Formats: sequence, structure tokens, C-alpha cells
Amino acid sequence: MPIAKKNQLIGLDIGSHSIKLVEIDDSKKGRILKNFGVIGLPPDAIVEGSIKEMEIVSSAIKNLFKNLKVKNKNVATSISGFSVIVKKITVSSKEESELEATIQDEAEQYIPFDINEVNLDFDILSPGGEVEEGSEEEAEKEETGEMEVMLVAAKKDIIDDYISLLQISGLEPLVLDVDAFALQNAFEISAEETSGCYALVNVGAEELGINAIKGGVSLFARDSSYGGSQITEQIMSQFNLSFEEAEKMKLGGAKISKEKAALEEIFTAAVSEWVQEIKRALDFVASTYAEENIEKIFVTGGSCRIPGFQKYLQMETDIPVEELNPFANLVVDEKVFDPKYLKYMAPQAGVAVGLALRHIGDK
Ligand SMILES: Nc1ncnc2c1ncn2[C@@H]1O[C@H](COP(=O)(O)OP(=O)(O)OP(=O)(O)O)[C@@H](O)[C@H]1O
Ligand SMILES: [Mg+2]
Repeated sequence: MPIAKKNQLIGLDIGSHSIKLVEIDDSKKGRILKNFGVIGLPPDAIVEGSIKEMEIVSSAIKNLFKNLKVKNKNVATSISGFSVIVKKITVSSKEESELEATIQDEAEQYIPFDINEVNLDFDILSPGGEVEEGSEEEAEKEETGEMEVMLVAAKKDIIDDYISLLQISGLEPLVLDVDAFALQNAFEISAEETSGCYALVNVGAEELGINAIKGGVSLFARDSSYGGSQITEQIMSQFNLSFEEAEKMKLGGAKISKEKAALEEIFTAAVSEWVQEIKRALDFVASTYAEENIEKIFVTGGSCRIPGFQKYLQMETDIPVEELNPFANLVVDEKVFDPKYLKYMAPQAGVAVGLALRHIGDK
């Protein structure tokens, strides 16, 4: 079977608002978009990255696979938010064999959870960190014998929940990634220029993720509890509406006239909180990496389309803001996928596209 031969995986982004599925077929013509679909979840099924309603989420996943007629059961999925910490740390250079023990020790001071309840993983960013070969900086780092390591710590119980969820849905979870890194992979294949220093900002329903990258390596990543649900909940309480009605009003699908001003006020309040949070992260990056300059902010996630957000972010940071289109460099058959639909959905598809780029055997 060609699927197995190519070791390709289905990218499944299990978000708190919806589940996104992307299937990509590597071919001589390039990366072909083979499948894309989304299924909504009720508001309390997944709360801040933890699965509250296994059965509901599982049946949504099964329906998504059935509706899209997806044959491949091998999936790559991701976690984010409170359940995972991503941090770049500096340790003294060591043999790989010793490194694990050192990192375990080091990690304790960086991880706010009980170390026995987390799974630790790490990635060596190159001895001495990301410095130019032969540069003075490289020589300096080699002398001090330091190396930079990206530490990823995820809560074991959350990992177990995601794995069980996929298994009871009849799937084979083969890669477990982190939203921020999946998005980074989607960015790498879709942006015109990827060698500089950028910020990737993902505003979903319950999480706002920020990842500052330089030359394809993450400098700093963090998730915090902001997102489109804040707005939906405000609309629900202010106008006494159901979740569905409030979502509709938020997305401009409901007739409003007298509510318009109040709605705009809700948007403005949320957007300014998001922008402040992004600014705090960018200030941290600027003070930690004084020599780096963020050239552009790429925004994604369904809520990056909230009216005024992108403009306000650009104004407040003085950095150009652009929407990331994860489909940009995929081969798309317009007879199968409506280009207008893909364009509308693009912000919600970033993580799933990034996951679909992964292969069996990847870490
Ligand atoms: N065109 C749009 N304008 C404004 N908001 C939108 C638009 N489309 C979707 N949203 C909002 O974006 C959110 C969903 O985005 P996304 O799919 O990125 O979140 P998620 O991955 O399910 O959630 P999370 O990652 O935060 O758990 C919802 O709050 C939804 O109402
Ligand atoms: Mg998401």
C-alpha cells in the first residue's frame, strides 16, 4: 500500500473548539493536499487542553474520518497549553549518554509540575546553540563548553489521555507533537522567506500560543489562556444567548444593529488583552536576545480573524503582521477543494498541516 510505504501520517489537531484533519500526499509533483476537514466540538468537551468528554470527542473523530473517507489510521497529533512546557536551557556540553541525566536534574528547576508526573524530551539545538559556524560567538561557546537544549516537558496524564482517545477511536497514534512546533513546520513549508527572525502567533479558542523563531529554531515559546472563547462567553452573558447563537453573532452571521457597539466593545477588550500578552512575550525575547530583531509576526488560529486584531497588533508592536496560509505551497485540486473555503479556513488549519508533514519513525 502506498500509504504505508511512504510512512505518511494523518495530521489531527484536536483543538478545544474543533478538530482539524489534514492528509498530505508526498509526490513527484510536490505535496498534494489529499484531505482536509473540520468538525466542531461542544464547548465543554475539551477545556484548556484537557479532555473532559472522551466519548463525545472520540465520536467526533470517528465521524471526521468517516465523512472524509480517510483510510490511513496512523496519526500525528499534538498537545499544548498548560500541559506542556517548552523551554530553551543551557547546559554544559556532555556526551549524549550523560546528557539525559543532567537534563532530568536541570529540568526540575524549570518545570512547575512534579517531575515524576511529566515526560521529558529534549532536542540539542547544536553545541553552543544557534551560532554561525566559524564565528567568534561559536568559538566562545565552545570554550565555555555549553550547549543549548530545547526542553519539552509534558504531563504524563494528559499524554495518556490523548493516546487513549485516539486508540478508542480506532486510530494508531504514532507521533505526539506540540502545537507550537507543528505550526513552525507548517510555516517552514508555506512562508516565502523563512531564514530570518519571526514570531508565530496562534490565537485559537482557549489558547494563545507565541513562538519566536530564528533560522528555523525556536528561541522562545509560550501558551497562555486567551482566545476566541473569551469573546463567545462575553456575548453569551451580555446578550443572554446560547453558545451557538453567540458564535454566530461573533462571526457576523447574525443580524445585529443595536448590539453593534456593544459587540465592538467586547472585541476591543479581548483584542487589547491579546496584544498586551504578545507584547510581553516579545519584550522578553528582545531583552533575552538583544541582537535579534523580529522582522514579522505571522498570525494564525481561528481568532486571528477577529476584526481589528491584526491591525492593532501591527500598530502596537510596530512590526508587520501577516496571516499565515498553511496551504500556500500545497498542490490543491480546485475541483476537490473550494479555494474560497480553504482561504476562509486557512488560519484554523496551520497546526494540522504541520502535523500532516510528519512521518512514521519521527520522534
Ligand atoms: N472568521 C473568524 N473570525 C473570528 N473568529 C473566528 C473565525 N473563525 C473562527 N473563529 C474563532 O476561532 C476559534 C477557533 O479557532 P481554532 O480552530 O484555531 O481553535 P482550536 O484549535 O479549536 O482551539 P485551541 O487551540 O485554543 O484549543 C473559535 O473561538 C472561533 O469562534
Ligand atoms: Mg488550536
